[in-house]
Amino acid sequence: MQRDTAMMEHFQTMHTKGPAVQPISATKMQAEKVSVHYGTKQALFDVDLDILDREVTALIGPSGCGKSTFLRCLNRMNDAIASAKVSGKITLDGGDIYSPGLDVVELRARVGMVFQKPNPFPKSIFDNVAYGPRIHGLARNKSDLQEIVVGSLRKAGLYEEVKDRLDEPGTGLSGGQQQRLCIARAIAVSPEVILMDEPCSALDPIATARVEELIDELKQNYTIVIVTHSMQQAARVSQRTAMFHLGYLVEVGPTEKMFSNPDDKRTQDYITGRFG
Ligand SMILES: Nc1ncnc2c1ncn2[C@@H]1O[C@H](COP(=O)(O)OP(=O)(O)OP(=O)(O)O)[C@@H](O)[C@H]1O
Ligand SMILES: [Mg+2]
Repeated sequence: MQRDTAMMEHFQTMHTKGPAVQPISATKMQAEKVSVHYGTKQALFDVDLDILDREVTALIGPSGCGKSTFLRCLNRMNDAIASAKVSGKITLDGGDIYSPGLDVVELRARVGMVFQKPNPFPKSIFDNVAYGPRIHGLARNKSDLQEIVVGSLRKAGLYEEVKDRLDEPGTGLSGGQQQRLCIARAIAVSPEVILMDEPCSALDPIATARVEELIDELKQNYTIVIVTHSMQQAARVSQRTAMFHLGYLVEVGPTEKMFSNPDDKRTQDYITGRFG
C-alpha cells in the first residue's frame, strides 16, 4: 500500500515537473457503439473509437465504407440529413454530445468542420472569417474582431497572401487559398476539434503540401480528424489511423504500425492497393 502511494507520487512528480516529460495523450472524443442508419440501410455498425487530444487521426477505407458518415457524427452534421438515425454514444471531454439539452450551434463551434470542396461564403475574405466570431459574439468591438480575423488568417498560413485584399470576395481566391480560408474560418471560433473530409482532394500537389504543413502545425493546438483517400497523406499527417470497411471499424492504431504491420488483412489489402 505504502509502496503504491510512493509510486503514485513518483508518477505525479514525473508528470508535473520536468520540461522533458511529454503529456500523456488524453481522449478528446470517444465513440461507443456508434451505428448509423439512412432509412432502412445501415451505414455504420457499432463503431468504438477514441480520438486523442492534439493528435491527427486519419480515417481511411474504400469508398462508401462510412468515413464521412462517422465524421459527421462527431459534430452532429447528420442531424441535417432527415433519413439519418444515429445510435450509440459520443462524448467530447466526457460530455455526451447527443444529450437532449445540448446546444448544437455551440457544439459545432467546439467541433468545427472543413469540407472536401472549398466553400467560402459569397462574402469578402474578412467577412468569411469574421462570420463565426460575429454570430457567437466573440468580439467585444471592431479591433477585437480585426485581431481574431488577422490571427486566424495567420494561423491558416494565408495572411501574407491576402492582407492587401481583405475586402475582396473569398471566392476570388485560388482553390488552395480558398481551402486555407475555410480553415481560417473554422479556426476563428477557437474550436477544440477540427474535422476535415478529404480537404485536399480538390487541390493541386503544391496547395496540398501547404495544407498538409498547416495540419501539422495546427495539431499543436487542435485535435484533428481527417478523412483521406491518399495513403501517403494519411502517413504524412496523422499519428493514428483508423481503417473502415463496409461500415465497420476494422482496426485503429499508430499510423506507423498501420502502414508497416497492420493486424487485419483488409487493412493490408487496402494500403497495398488491392482494393478500394
Ligand atoms: N445522405 C445519405 N443518404 C443515404 N445514404 C447515404 C447518405 N450518405 C451516405 N450514405 C450511404 O452510407 C454509406 C457510407 O457512405 P459515406 O459517405 O459515409 O462513405 P465514405 O466512406 O465517406 O465514402 P467516400 O470515400 O466515397 O466519400 C454508403 O453506402 C452511402 O451510400
Ligand atoms: Mg466521404
